[in-house]
Amino acid sequence: MKKLFAVLMLAAMPVFAFAAEQGVQLDKVDIDVSDKAALQDGARTFANYCMGCHSAKFQRYERVADDLGIPHEVMLDNLVFTGAKIGDHMKIGMQPNDAKAWFGAAPPDLTLVARVRGTDWLYSYLRAFYEDPSRPWGVNNKVFPNVGMPNVLAPLQGRQVIGCKQVQIVEDGKKQYDPLTGTPLTHEACDQLTVLPKTGALTEEQFDEKIKNLVTFLAYSANPVKLEHQRIGTYVLIYLAFLFVFAYLLKREYWKDVH
Ligand code: HEC
Repeated sequence: MKKLFAVLMLAAMPVFAFAAEQGVQLDKVDIDVSDKAALQDGARTFANYCMGCHSAKFQRYERVADDLGIPHEVMLDNLVFTGAKIGDHMKIGMQPNDAKAWFGAAPPDLTLVARVRGTDWLYSYLRAFYEDPSRPWGVNNKVFPNVGMPNVLAPLQGRQVIGCKQVQIVEDGKKQYDPLTGTPLTHEACDQLTVLPKTGALTEEQFDEKIKNLVTFLAYSANPVKLEHQRIGTYVLIYLAFLFVFAYLLKREYWKDVH
């Protein structure tokens, strides 16, 4: 009986973990891991803004270059800053102990993070830093409260603050308007993120696109064979289509004399 109880508890655990994460509404993102341009942009952002602290040590530079269609020299000149060779794993120089002393928590390896957290979580997290003078780096995060990571993307995004503001009412996924005047119906909501205008290098749309590309790269990194599966899948379908035509012609040939 005790054993059964333990098994039931274990089976229910993912549900509890999931329930604990339900605190904030995550923004949905539609990614396409076969979009080479998005992957290349994401890889560039990852190398420039994340690899100072995070490794992707289950991945090799060479594999990324080949999968994403980046020539090896271009990869080495633009995406490798540690003097690593093309065949090396994507490791970093920072020691976990130093990192822990500096940030309170060691930056985890990000090769598989898209599988652990999911793409919606990553997309929301990376856009959810806001100014909070009470924190060591002056920033907090709405999706990951009291996170140890500084907001490294602030120069691109600009200064984001949290507070109350008027937001448009949405019912059943539809934005609501005043039926008489056509003006948006709003209500005051708190805990809302707002980017102060003209404080970042990118507009809000451009920044969202950058993060989407970065998340696309992380999704590819967590499952690089998915690209291959898609390519092979296409060949299989073409093969089956041909096979079907020939099988049909053959069947007609055989049955011709029977009727
Ligand atoms: C200055 C160092 C630094 C840089 C640069 C940095 N991070 Fe972090 N990151 C951290 C630290 C430290 C943590 C651990 C925070 C904690 O657990 O409180 C973290 C945590 C994370 C997490 C949460 C992982 C998890 O599942 O708990 C993700 C995702 C992440 N970083 C992504 C990124 C991405 C993407 C970039 C590049 C845009 C980036 N980070 C750049 C220091 C950094």
